[in-house]
Amino acid sequence: MDAAQRRALDEAAPVPSRGVGLSGKLLILTVLFVLVAEILIYVPAVANFRNTWLDDRIAAGRTAALVLEAAPSGMVPEVLVRELLDSAGAQAVALKTGPARRLLAASEEMPQVDVTIDMRDQTLFRSIPEAFATLFAREGRTMRVMGNARRAGDFVEIVMDETPLKRAMVKFSQAILVVSLFISALTAGLVYLTLHLLFVRPMRRLTDTMIAFRENPEDLSQAIVPTGRKDEVGVAEYELQSMQHSLHDMLAQKSRLAALGLAVSKINHDLRNLLASAQLFSDRLANVPDPTVQKFAPKMIQALDRAIAFCQATLSYGRAHEAAPQRRMVDLSALADEVRDTMGLGLDARIAFINAVERDVMVDADTDQLFRVLLNLVRNAHQALEARAPNDPGRDQIRIVGRREGAVAVIEVSDTGPGVPDRARQHLFEAFQSSTRPGGSGLGLAIASELIRAHGGSVALADGTLGATFRIAIPDRPIDLAAIRKQQRRRA
Ligand SMILES: Nc1ncnc2c1ncn2[C@@H]1O[C@H](COP(=O)(O)OP(=O)(O)OP(=O)(O)O)[C@@H](O)[C@H]1O
Ligand SMILES: [Mg+2]
Repeated sequence: MDAAQRRALDEAAPVPSRGVGLSGKLLILTVLFVLVAEILIYVPAVANFRNTWLDDRIAAGRTAALVLEAAPSGMVPEVLVRELLDSAGAQAVALKTGPARRLLAASEEMPQVDVTIDMRDQTLFRSIPEAFATLFAREGRTMRVMGNARRAGDFVEIVMDETPLKRAMVKFSQAILVVSLFISALTAGLVYLTLHLLFVRPMRRLTDTMIAFRENPEDLSQAIVPTGRKDEVGVAEYELQSMQHSLHDMLAQKSRLAALGLAVSKINHDLRNLLASAQLFSDRLANVPDPTVQKFAPKMIQALDRAIAFCQATLSYGRAHEAAPQRRMVDLSALADEVRDTMGLGLDARIAFINAVERDVMVDADTDQLFRVLLNLVRNAHQALEARAPNDPGRDQIRIVGRREGAVAVIEVSDTGPGVPDRARQHLFEAFQSSTRPGGSGLGLAIASELIRAHGGSVALADGTLGATFRIAIPDRPIDLAAIRKQQRRRA
């Protein structure tokens, strides 16, 4: 990620708010949820309150009716009527027995009523809308309430002012409201505190360390230290810690590699200059008429040319990747001879070099890259055999075998050495990972593998052989029929 991308991400990131953060939202939501629960409780409660209130009145009405029954002539003294009506809070009470109706009222006539409520078959479902109708009704309405009398079939009617009921209900609602607010505040506070301690605070800790670590990932002291919790938060802390540690390690390795890359570039640069001066001398040497010099000078010049070209390519490519292979058909046997000459493994060497490439085997590859691959493998074999000095060419041998299997060229580089040690095998083709040699960098096989893969091929260590055998397979480039036809058409 470059600096501009990082800046864009920084700008897009939400600014952590300390005001209405997660905790504030939780608090508001809890208050709302508790209030909803309270409303669900309040609605049937207020209807129930009204029913009880009316039932009380009906009971008082029933007592008054008793007096009516006790007075057979129906004549009740005026004073008693008043008292009875006051105790029931009613303007009139009537007892209906069969077709007869006896009235207990201040006047002879039943007062005019605005609303009739029948308590004989009252259900909660019906009483809820009726309760709200009472609550929101205008003051001063007169209502008639009907309820069962003592004897089956009879009923009592009470006519009274609705206002006291309405006032009682308003008072009840206010009490419920106060209690609700108190309960919501208390519950919300408790829920908030619990959530804050259990989630919000550890989350803040996580985000704080993330931010601190992102700002300075090289400083491991900013990494999170898990609290040892066993729940999901504990797992998150633990995972974050291991992520921060591996990121830190990766970063350290990356900067080591970057430093190494720089060092390699510097070395390459000066090496190229030194090789260029060696090239000047070897050019002059080629003019010496001595037959031995004439034999070796061209090889030396070629080796130097290759070395300079390689240094140059490395420098210009910045070490990140190898250049794409420039493929053509390469004579494998001749290339193997060049590798032998470069390694100085002539007939008089203590380690035998056997070029067993089948005749005329051609490989579709980049000459210089394939040369580097073979040189790396042969050098490894040579180093493995040299470790058993004194060497004997009858026993210590390096062999290059080459053949074609259809469209694939197969090359094997084998030796009669001790074989690849077990601890090198696991990351054999990974850079800086596999070396077991003092002074070895563990790059040779990684480079060889990268170069061969760029050809669409593979390199692997063959199993069950004496010593070590590396098998390379390089497929020919697929034939582009369309391009060939185009060329033919152009020629025609
Ligand atoms: N022919 C072989 N015989 C035995 N061991 C081998 C052979 N080729 C490779 N190895 C083992 O594999 C390791 C990795 O080889 P590689 O070429 O990648 O690195 P290196 O030779 O240690 O260092 P470099 O090539 O970068 O100087 C070697 O250290 C060695 O242990
Ligand atoms: Mg090597």
